[in-house]
Amino acid sequence: ARPADVLLGSPRQLKDWLPDRSVASHKGQHGRVLLLGGEAGMGGALLLAAGAALRVGTGLVAAMGHQSVVAPMLARHPEVMVEALESEALAQRLAWADAIVLGPGLGQGAVAAQCLPQVLAQSQPVLLDADGLNWLAEHPRHQDNWVLTPHPGEAARLLGCSVAEIEADRFGAARRLQQRYGGVVVLKGPGTLIDGGDGPQLLLPVGNPGLATGGSGDLLSGIIGGLLSQGLAPMSAACAGVLIHGEAADDALGPGPKGMLPSDLLPHIRNRVNQGDV
Ligand code: APR
Ligand code: MG
Repeated sequence: ARPADVLLGSPRQLKDWLPDRSVASHKGQHGRVLLLGGEAGMGGALLLAAGAALRVGTGLVAAMGHQSVVAPMLARHPEVMVEALESEALAQRLAWADAIVLGPGLGQGAVAAQCLPQVLAQSQPVLLDADGLNWLAEHPRHQDNWVLTPHPGEAARLLGCSVAEIEADRFGAARRLQQRYGGVVVLKGPGTLIDGGDGPQLLLPVGNPGLATGGSGDLLSGIIGGLLSQGLAPMSAACAGVLIHGEAADDALGPGPKGMLPSDLLPHIRNRVNQGDV
């Protein structure tokens, strides 16, 4: 068994989590995910998350962000329904979505202020990342329907401590994050930890230093968000998502970690999801 299987405490493989696709299937059966972020200057984060959500097999992907992200998104991913964030359109899209991703390139400006209260009032599963987490640190609340994906810096802000303290006791930090904020916590970094509150904490030693490039986290958000929209429970979506992300990174390694780009992972995400076996 691979280390991840051992540490997951079960012989389950990726294919046991991922939904099958029958020959008679149609797009309405494979989830609708809404991605929110892409403030001016950080549009690439939303594009990467969208690419990952598509490659993980999501039926329909919609994205909303700053006006400046619309044309690049259509050029790169014509499959995505993208529009500028505006509150009436947002209300409609929120009602449409099976799952919501809030964070890739969100920033701390107008896009964030407009989305956050509306999104957190939803009952669908929500993935909160990046500046969505920084907002949460300022407005603490406990919710069961979310997946939180902090890197150590975001975790430190959420717990009001230093990054060194997070890194000195990652297991303790993941547990405290879960207790304070609820849901499923994915504490990122080499040796990602997952804590869903009940049951053991899971350590997933997957991925490689090629992921230490801006945008890798945005891929993970899109992967997990896409899996949530396809009906995976938050804990399953988090575990399967971290495995897909890490194994795709290993597949994309080529000559070595330097110069590996997050976008290089996209075709490998597709391979892993169809192989269903990491
Ligand atoms: N080994 C394995 N996995 C790694 C490694 C490594 N050496 N380095 C990074 N990763 C993985 C992490 O586990 C995580 O899944 O890559 C991903 C990096 O995610 P983030 O730290 O969120 O990085 P990213 O989002 O791409 O860029 C940082 O986003 O969150 C904001 O404030 C942050 O602006 C900053 C930007
Ligand atoms: Mg990040």
